[in-house]
Amino acid sequence: MAIPRLKLTAAIVAASSLLLLLGVARGAPDTTVRQVLCNSEGYTAGDPFAANVAYVVADLEAATPGREGYDYANISPYPNAFAYGHATCGRNLTGADCGTCLGAAKRAMLGTCASRIGARAVLVDCGMRYEQYPFSD
Ligand SMILES: *[C@@H]1O[C@H](CO)[C@@H](O)[C@H](O)[C@H]1NC(C)=O
Repeated sequence: MAIPRLKLTAAIVAASSLLLLLGVARGAPDTTVRQVLCNSEGYTAGDPFAANVAYVVADLEAATPGREGYDYANISPYPNAFAYGHATCGRNLTGADCGTCLGAAKRAMLGTCASRIGARAVLVDCGMRYEQYPFSD
């Protein structure tokens, strides 16, 4: 007995939707941006602070997924114009998803706050911040 073509199509659509729902439910990180804040002060091209910010932000993205509780603070290694960073991910994320979320946080932060002396991005599942001074949140 042949299965009517329309019913087969409907079944395939239903099965695909179910798989899609399961994929979402199983936990892609929620990278919805809640807030991006930029310091109004900028630094100029060639300022050594630029390299320090680049280092700190890349290190936050790479190292936070491997840290206890996904909570990691760092300082740039180059003297002069130190940059201080901090990043967190929701503990319900996998390490890989933490990295994915922080990549999105970095893009949101640097995209909105180009060449600023301080910035932060708060996403639903993670957050990232850097400043010229030590801070504790
Ligand atoms: C993790 O928990 C937060 C807060 O309860 C929630 O908004 C988010 O969707 C969860 N993320 C994942 C990947 O389960």
